[in-house]
Amino acid sequence: MVSYGETELKPSVTLRFTLSIGAMVLVGGVIFFYFCMEHEFPSTSGAATAREIRPAASTRLNADALPPSVAARVSAWEKMIAANFAGDDACVQCHPSESQAHQRSGHSHTAIKMADSALAKQLIELGTYADPLRSQTFQFEMNEGQFTVQDVSPGAQSIKVPVTWLLGSGTHAQTPVTVDLQTQRGIELRWSFLAGQNGLGVTPDQTRYQQFRNRSVECFGRPMDSADIRSCIGCHATVSAPPELPFLDALVVENVGCERCHGPRKKHVDLAHRGQAELAKPLISLDDPDVYMNICSGCHRDESSVAADALPHELARFQPYGLKRSACYLKSGQSMTCSTCHDPHDTVSHDRAFYVSKCQSCHSETTQRSCPQPLRGDCIECHMPKTQWTAGIAFHDHWIRLPDDDSRSPKKTASDAVDR
Ligand code: HEC
Ligand code: HEC
Ligand code: HEC
Ligand code: HEC
Ligand code: HEC
Ligand code: HEC
Ligand code: HEC
Repeated sequence: MVSYGETELKPSVTLRFTLSIGAMVLVGGVIFFYFCMEHEFPSTSGAATAREIRPAASTRLNADALPPSVAARVSAWEKMIAANFAGDDACVQCHPSESQAHQRSGHSHTAIKMADSALAKQLIELGTYADPLRSQTFQFEMNEGQFTVQDVSPGAQSIKVPVTWLLGSGTHAQTPVTVDLQTQRGIELRWSFLAGQNGLGVTPDQTRYQQFRNRSVECFGRPMDSADIRSCIGCHATVSAPPELPFLDALVVENVGCERCHGPRKKHVDLAHRGQAELAKPLISLDDPDVYMNICSGCHRDESSVAADALPHELARFQPYGLKRSACYLKSGQSMTCSTCHDPHDTVSHDRAFYVSKCQSCHSETTQRSCPQPLRGDCIECHMPKTQWTAGIAFHDHWIRLPDDDSRSPKKTASDAVDR
């Protein structure tokens, strides 16, 4: 665990950023800032309890309805966030290139309100969608700014649920999530936008849920408990509700913004406007490769956060996990990070020549071991093959290794899978 000393930030609370693998905890009196590390699409969820569905109207949690002690803590938390976080817009003026790059990256639009999304508009036009694996038809509607989905299959008794969040930029996929603030439970919906199909399909990993109980949340998708909701939103947002507080949409600072990686920057912004930016010591020093890798691993996952029973083709999705196993990383004297090959602000480049030049900066006749193979194709094809995760979605395996090191090696390049 890496911890950082106190900073000069002393508003209502003293902030200290403590970073453990995959979890970020702000220690400040009563307040903890915590992103759980549950795994996406847990394999146990088939057995999750099927709850009775509530009608859509009762799912709105009125802020006035919170018990006074909880309301006070929510408001203290909101004040603390407002006092310490400046928001992405505050950075554009002085850091235009990072800001523009960030706009191109999926980080900047990976968690949005469903009702505000382009997908919602398209689904309203589409009207209905028939599940390819179950005899179910879903109907989409927008009522008073709320996006709802209704099961209109015969016998479904017209149950309707509001859909609150849409996760994913759409580079690969977008998955809607519904959160019932009253019960603090939710649903990962069964249908997702899949870029590889350029349309709706069954949410990855939900293809196996073909049985469901009528009038239960299972009609709509995978039931989620409170921890599941928090981890899901927590990895797609800058700030989310801490465990002591109820999950409220208003407590979410959407998307992976500047301050998720750089820490709260309000003080920096205030001082910078007075020409004293250098007085604001960063809470997170990304110059330290361990700190750097831990930040990314918190969401992209490494050996401490991947499921023990994950299969090789699933592991290929977790770049820090792979990279940290590679001889390139292990034998480069702690100098390699994701920035060796990527601008962490920008969307991933698909320029192969660029990556090959990165490989060759270390691997040439005179430096590291060089490749004995006749260099057909490029280094990436053979040493970081594209590996299919699920139908239509593939990732480049970041465990850089010899192609015949097949002990745990996944199937090689999936030519039928999409690249992005
Ligand atoms: C009024 C101008 C200004 C604004 C607004 C501003 N910065 Fe800066 N920033 C600077 C200056 C000047 C430096 C160089 C300071 C130094 O030399 O340490 C800097 C340095 C940085 C650095 C590198 C050094 C470090 O502290 O880690 C980061 C990261 C950074 N800013 C992030 C941000 C973020 C995130 C925001 C928005 C929340 C932001 N800045 C808003 C002026 C600004
Ligand atoms: C441990 C952190 C973590 C959790 C928990 C998590 N995600 Fe993600 N998610 C990621 C990361 C990192 C990516 C990008 C790389 C990838 O696809 O693995 C991603 C990608 C996605 C994408 C595809 C985005 C795109 O177009 O490339 C979707 C959709 C998505 N997540 C939805 C969800 C949903 C829904 C949940 C909750 C049920 C969830 N995620 C939980 C970290 C997480
Ligand atoms: C996904 C994590 C991440 C996000 C999000 C992010 N940064 Fe960074 N940023 C980094 C890392 C890592 C570095 C260290 C330099 C490097 O490795 O490229 C960095 C470096 C910087 C620097 C210093 C650049 C230099 O040349 O020294 C500035 C300024 C900066 N970021 C501003 C921003 C701003 C503004 C945003 C939001 C628009 C932002 N960052 C979002 C990870 C991030
Ligand atoms: C808060 C969780 C989180 C953290 C921390 C994080 N990422 Fe991500 N990252 C994501 C998610 C979620 C996505 C998928 C975005 C989308 O929907 O397309 C993603 C996508 C990316 C992409 C692909 C972007 C694109 O548009 O092609 C890169 C590259 C990336 N992350 C690098 C990094 C690096 C490097 C770090 C550490 C410095 C980092 N990330 C830290 C959650 C995170
Ligand atoms: C920062 C320098 C650096 C970069 C960049 C780099 N490597 Fe390496 N790589 C190394 C080192 C150091 C070793 C270990 C050499 C040794 O064992 O003597 C290594 C080992 C390897 C091995 C042998 C793996 C094994 O298990 O024996 C392969 C294959 C390889 N690199 C391919 C690549 C490819 C392909 C790229 C580009 C995608 C790349 N490397 C980028 C430094 C680097
Ligand atoms: C056609 C597939 C292919 C391509 C393209 C390829 N390699 Fe290899 N590479 C291999 C194989 C196979 C080995 C294992 C050595 C052997 O058995 O001949 C290897 C071995 C290596 C090694 C370890 C050498 C050793 O001493 O054990 C390194 C380093 C390496 N490759 C780097 C690269 C780099 C850098 C590139 C791009 C410039 C590249 N490779 C392109 C297939 C390829
Ligand atoms: C040695 C170079 C190298 C390093 C280091 C590296 N990557 Fe990559 N990364 C690549 C290559 C090559 C691709 C494939 C680009 C393409 O589409 O052609 C890629 C693709 C990606 C993608 C897009 C999804 C995919 O798999 O195609 C994400 C996200 C990503 N990297 C994240 C990371 C993160 C996070 C780290 C640090 C843990 C990292 N990368 C370190 C070379 C690297």
